[in-house]
Amino acid sequence: MRLVATHEEIGVVTGRWRRAGEGIAFVPTMGNLHAGHLELVRAARGLADRVVASIFVNPLQFNDGADLAAYPRTPEEDRALLHAAGVDALFMPDAAQVYPRGMAAATRVEVPALSGILCGEFRPGHFTGVATVVAALFNMVRPDAAVFGEKDYQQLLIIRRLVEDLRFPIRIEGVATVREEDGLAYSSRNAYLAPPERRRAAELYRALSGVRDAIVGGRRDYSALAEAALRRLESVGFRPEYLGVRRAADLAPAGPDDRELRVLAAGYLGKARLIDNVGVVLSS
Ligand code: PAF
Repeated sequence: MRLVATHEEIGVVTGRWRRAGEGIAFVPTMGNLHAGHLELVRAARGLADRVVASIFVNPLQFNDGADLAAYPRTPEEDRALLHAAGVDALFMPDAAQVYPRGMAAATRVEVPALSGILCGEFRPGHFTGVATVVAALFNMVRPDAAVFGEKDYQQLLIIRRLVEDLRFPIRIEGVATVREEDGLAYSSRNAYLAPPERRRAAELYRALSGVRDAIVGGRRDYSALAEAALRRLESVGFRPEYLGVRRAADLAPAGPDDRELRVLAAGYLGKARLIDNVGVVLSS
């Protein structure tokens, strides 16, 4: 696995592959890798001849300096995992490579229709930070395909929209959420859970699954279902930010005639901010 730190070098490496007719799949990450990331790499390997992964803890998408400082960084372990997973090049730029004029002066990419709702309501500027870094990384790596987890469903839709609107010639592939045995979605933020919280954390997935099962069973009173699920989360110690039933295509509030839905939630359990979602497809 080749280690690359500069945008010039990643351009040379991927340019050589491209000229040799090899396709490139890209897995952007912020490191501290877990089974969910490795599933993204596995999917990427099925999409192209070469896989590039990146690790960059993007300051522009953190709206809280303490959260950025505390974000777990495990570069040695990450390198070993990516090497073993068959990644061809690991791009680890520093902030000057990504934001050559500094963060305050950096050109921003915004996807306004999808960025102010759900997580965006509670993390102002977060998705502009994500869209900006992803656009910059796409231009540096120039992949044919890029892979993102469905756990960050809103992020996935924002990146799909960005690619469509700005005509990036990149196929965006979403990969199903990888869960621990009790249903908790893998996340770097699970490390913030104290042991008693960890035992309760899978309630988030259970609450979402309960809403999904009720919808599949015929319920269409989405607000009441969401409200009951929120109360259930509060009763086990969560401080929920939101839980809602949305249209899968654009995250607008779901109506009774919509067929493809997503039930999404976010909330704090102790110091950990957890997010999760499940899909529902209703037959017409
Ligand atoms: O999902 C993440 O890890 C990050 O938001 C991403 C896509 C790597 C951008 O920094």
